Amino acid sequence: MTQDELKALVGQAALKYVVPGELVGVGTGSTVNKFIDALASIKDRIRGAVSSSEASTARLRAAGIEVFDASEVEELSVYIDGADEIDGQGYMIKGGGAALTREKIVAAQSRRFVCIADESKQVPVLGRFPVPVEVIPMAAGRIIRQFAALGGTARLRLRGDAPLVTDNGQHILDVSGLSVTDPLAFESQVNQWPGVVCVGVFAHQKANVCLLGTSQGVRTIDWS
Ligand code: 5RP
Repeated sequence: MTQDELKALVGQAALKYVVPGELVGVGTGSTVNKFIDALASIKDRIRGAVSSSEASTARLRAAGIEVFDASEVEELSVYIDGADEIDGQGYMIKGGGAALTREKIVAAQSRRFVCIADESKQVPVLGRFPVPVEVIPMAAGRIIRQFAALGGTARLRLRGDAPLVTDNGQHILDVSGLSVTDPLAFESQVNQWPGVVCVGVFAHQKANVCLLGTSQGVRTIDWS
């Protein structure tokens, strides 16, 4: 099976975690796009969605699914999103699509995080994929130096020749060369640096369930 087919497989499999009559939290990325396509087939059975990016909002609306603002909603039963890496405990690196801050916000208001990913995303230790960090631009230089002190190399993410600007009007640093052996401690540490909006290690908002697309089918890993 191709990677695209594996993404479609887990996108479809995630439907069984959607609670009829309720809102569903929706992440961002190519795997989530498959989930949104599948969600369109049951749109009359859900109330709508809370979205983690302008891109997902546009796709949800195009599919005829009503999108609610996260701040209008107290709690969601489930949040469904992809990952750039996921380890054996459900800790993840996310933010390859630059939506990490809103993803973490919607994940935090959800009782259950269902990660949908193809098997290439499974790793023993987080860090092969550069860790995305959303930063306020005036702090970027100092944050780059703080990562260098940890042994990481942080690079400003570009779109064309200019810095990429997130949905929140900020910039992204991609940090390579780190081995994130203690994701909870790493996330807490980087969160405290002034100018960090969000670090793309999801340890405090880890996955409760992972639907992993493999050549043998969907493998469900449940940590809850
Ligand atoms: C976006 C994300 C995505 O979930 C992550 O990048 C995985 O994307 P894809 O499903 O396209 O591989 O964190 O910010």
